[in-house]
Order: sequence, then structure tokens, then C-alpha cells
Amino acid sequence: MQQVSFIQMKDGTAEEYAFLDQHEKAYIKALPERVLSLLEQLGDTLDGYTVSRLEHSLQSASRAEADGCDEEMIVAALLHDIGDMYAPANHSEFAAALLRPYVRPELAWVLEKHGEFQMYYWAHHMGKDRNIRDQYKDHPWYQSCVDFCEKYDQNCFDPDYPSKPISHFAPMVRRVLAWPKY
Ligand SMILES: [Fe+2]
Ligand SMILES: [Fe+2]
Repeated sequence: MQQVSFIQMKDGTAEEYAFLDQHEKAYIKALPERVLSLLEQLGDTLDGYTVSRLEHSLQSASRAEADGCDEEMIVAALLHDIGDMYAPANHSEFAAALLRPYVRPELAWVLEKHGEFQMYYWAHHMGKDRNIRDQYKDHPWYQSCVDFCEKYDQNCFDPDYPSKPISHFAPMVRRVLAWPKY
């Protein structure tokens, strides 16, 4: 079979769906390469910052690695702003949705909430509530998100930091995103 013959899904056969499932598995397995190429595109512009979004991401992952974090955490740091290009209004949720099947629930939660927690560092300058993170004060992973923002996000705009290149992190991305496990 080269391709299915149905033009409406309701007419597909079991054989055709088994055939499509093989293609789907191959497509899922190529996810790390698609994510890495999206990450690369974050290097295009500075948008007024001292570093590109790619450099910010590499710096976040490099600092996490230097601190001895495990691979899931390093990859979460590397990809925490991956949604900036396609979901600028809710980039935290984008990263969480992308990584939820691949990183432990605590990290998915940190990714999902990091935008709100980051407001602690800038929102008061814009007439907004910097303490919006307080609503999660009793959450078991509150401190994890505070720590993530303090150590691997708000401080990752140093153009002189010796960040590792994408090629250094690519094997980690391939391992962590190899197949959904959560
Ligand atoms: Fe972010
Ligand atoms: Fe960030």
C-alpha cells in the first residue's frame, strides 16, 4: 500500500488504519528534529533584548546543566520559551503542552506557570501585579517554579555567558523527546 484510498475517514478500513499508524509512529519519532529546528528559529531576532531568544534558551539550559540538573530539567529549560513564535500570548502553555508527555509532571507544571511567576521581575514596572504567583503559594511545586525563574530564566540575558551550542543539547532533546512516557 502506497497510500490509503478513502477520502472520508468513516470509509477507512482496519488495514488502512494499521498502515497509517506506522506512518504516524515515524512522524512522532521525528519530533526532536522538528523541535530543534523551531528552537533554531528563535535565534533570528533580538527584539530589543541583549540576547536572542535562542541564546536565552541556551543560557537557561547551560545554567541548569552547570547546576547538575538532570536531563529532563535541562531540556525543559532549553525549551521553556519554544512557544514564543507561535503562541506569544500563552507561550508557557505551549511549552507545557509540548513537553507534558515527555517530562515529569512537576516540570510540566513549572513550564505552564513560568510566565506568571516571571511577572515577579517586571510586572510592577508596567502597573501590573508582580505577585500573581502568590495564588499558587500552597501548591507543592510553587517553590520549584520560583527557583526555575530565579536561576534559569530571569537571569539568562547575559551576552557574555559561555552558553553551550544547540549541538551540545541536541542528543538530550533526542533522548527526552524519543517517545511519550508520561
Ligand atoms: Fe517564558
Ligand atoms: Fe525565558
